[in-house]
Order: sequence, then C-alpha cells, then structure tokens
Amino acid sequence: MIDPAFETKLQLPGGFLLGAASAAHQVEGSNMNSDWWRHEQEGKLPVSGAAVDHYNRYEEDFKIAKQIGLNAFRISIEWSRVEPVEGKWDPVAIEHYRKVLKKMKEQGLTRMVTLHHFTLPQWLADQGGFETTKGSEALARFAWFLAQNLGDEIDLWCTFNEPGVYSTLGYIVGNWPPFKKKKFILCYRVYQNMIKAHKAAYAAIKQVLPNAQIGIANNCSYYEAADNSWLTKTGIKIAKYFNNIYFYAKISDQQDFIGINYYFYKNLSIGLRGIKFVNKEKPKSDMGWIINPEGIYHLLIDLKRFGKPIYVTENGIANARDDMRKDFIKQHLHWISQAIADGSDVRGYFYWSLTDTFEWQDGYDRFFGLVEVNRETQERKIRPSAQIFKELI
Ligand code: BGC
Repeated sequence: MIDPAFETKLQLPGGFLLGAASAAHQVEGSNMNSDWWRHEQEGKLPVSGAAVDHYNRYEEDFKIAKQIGLNAFRISIEWSRVEPVEGKWDPVAIEHYRKVLKKMKEQGLTRMVTLHHFTLPQWLADQGGFETTKGSEALARFAWFLAQNLGDEIDLWCTFNEPGVYSTLGYIVGNWPPFKKKKFILCYRVYQNMIKAHKAAYAAIKQVLPNAQIGIANNCSYYEAADNSWLTKTGIKIAKYFNNIYFYAKISDQQDFIGINYYFYKNLSIGLRGIKFVNKEKPKSDMGWIINPEGIYHLLIDLKRFGKPIYVTENGIANARDDMRKDFIKQHLHWISQAIADGSDVRGYFYWSLTDTFEWQDGYDRFFGLVEVNRETQERKIRPSAQIFKELI
C-alpha cells in the first residue's frame, strides 16, 4: 500500500492545469483503419472492439471531467480516421473532431492534442511506418492538415507519444506492431525518423499557426543505483541520457514545452551477469510497476535544463480496487509542487486516464480510470478516488 499517513504539502500556481489524458485507440472504439485493429483481427493482439465508446460518448466524458474538478484534457486525434487512404482526408472525421474539441472547450477544458499515440493508418504501416522518411513526410502533412482545419480549436500540441516505447516494443521486444524482434539498427532508424518527423511536423504547424505550443510526451524513468559500482553508475548515466533526455535534446529548438509521462522507477545494479532490478519493498500497481512518487521530483528538476515550461502529460496507476489511486495522485502532486518550489516550471498534470481504457497488450484487464466503465452497458461510474481533484481545489 502507499503510505496514507504521508504528509502532503501542495501549492500549485494559479492557472495550473489539472487534467486527464487519453488516446483515441484506447477509448474511442471501432478504429478500423489502423494497424492495431488489423493485427487484433489477426489474433496477434487483444481485441479493442467498441473500447469505451468514447467516440459516441465524448460529451458525457467531458462533463464528468468537469464535474470531478478537471480543467484540461489530452486526447489523440486518430490519424487513420482522418486520413484513411493516403492523401484522402475524411470530412466526416474532421467534423467529428471539431465537435469533440468544441465540447471540451464548453466544459472549460484546456485542450492538448496528440498526433501519434502508437497507432498508424494501415496504408502507412504497409509502407513501413517510420522505418523510412516516408513516415516523417506523412506526419508533417497530417500535422499541416490539422493545423489548417482544426488549429483554432487546439491549445497544446504533442506530435508524438513516447517514441522510445513505440520503437522499442515494435522493433526490439517485438510484442507490438510491426512485431519485429531484436532489430536494433532498424529501431535506431525508426527513432531517428521520429525525430525528423517531429521537426517536420513542428515546422508545418508553425507555418500555419506561428504561436502554437508544440512538444512531445516522452516516457521518462527515474533511475537509482542499487550499489556503488562503476558499472552500475555508468550504466545508469547512459540509460538516463538516452531514455530521458536524448529526444528532447535533439529537438531542443523545435519544442515549446517539455511533456513528460512518468510511470517507472528503476532501482538497479549492473554486474557482469547483467542487470538486476531491486525493489526495496515499495508498493506496486496492478501492472506490477513499482510506485515511487518522489521520482517525479528528480525528473522535473533535471528537466529544468531545457528552460521550457513542463507538463506532466501522463501519470497514473492501474488499481482495480481503487484503494491506492487517491494517495498515488496526492503524492505525485506533492512532489510536483516541491519541484515547482525548487524552480521547475511545471504548468500542468494529466492523470492517465479519465475512464478505464483498452490497455494495448493487456486488453481490458487493467483499470487506470478515475471512472469505471461497465463494458456491457458502457455505463460510467465515478470511482471514489476521483474526489481528490475537488479536495485539492
Ligand atoms: C501510454 C498509454 C498507456 C499507459 C499505461 C503510457 O505509457 O502512453 O497509452 O495506456 O502508459 O500503460
């Protein structure tokens, strides 16, 4: 359990965004033109089906977000809906997202929009996605199209969600599309092309909307050495740089804010026989992920080096019993508030997620939501932990 007696001190600046984050494929349902959908039908992945029907129930979801005290929301716009066929834009999809964004505004929610949250249109996946610069060009074109058609309804832009996770799971671990295992060089190429894609998309959006605020959401882990050996310390330095810093550094002139997703604490020692992960009896989520709220403080202090506003674009816990979520959020916000006091320019926090979602590899067995969803009836029920935001206000 997370220690409920931990004394939290919170002082968040005026205008601080308290929001929830989501991704199209995980909530909308029937996302039929994406690569994930196709692989789901082939039996390679759990089936997302109707998801939590956010495509039809977005209005209700944004009302709930407001009702529980949120003032911001992060969605992703599903590329494969907007451009189901290469170069052909679907007016119905654009109209849909315009309505979605307008409804968010009506509920007083600041709107953060992600362009790529793991899924690709099938036509692009068929051409290798980001394995070539074709992917970068395609993303820039998509970004330009959205800036032209929906730009007035978007407050904050994320080009990518977690490029490191995407490339590693797709090209080294191989359990995500396109299921390529141990393709180290290809993985590196994909990552480099995602950097190019970000830069091209950034330029395309700025061409239309010079004042747009654009960044990425990067998955940063907090690393701690479990011993004092040279090998462990050096290994951790390298991991910190490549996992937490590298992408931001490569795009440092093409980002207006730093977006960080924080889920992982890695306390490890490196020896000649490999890497050993150590857990000093810290609590774990239903994902088996170690919970260490203090880690976010150290990451936020480290990210001061970029001199940009920072948003915690994701942080959340899978907790079916809902007995840890409230303290989890409270303690992460405590450490964010400490980082702000120590000079980190954090402007907002997005909890993952408003509702339960389709959890990629794990399907519907993981419960991250502030709101429980009955998947037979799609009925929403606010979990007790969601009170935390009202209490904070
Ligand atoms: C991803 C989400 C995912 C969450 C929990 C994040 O890294 O952006 O899509 O649901 O982790 O696994």
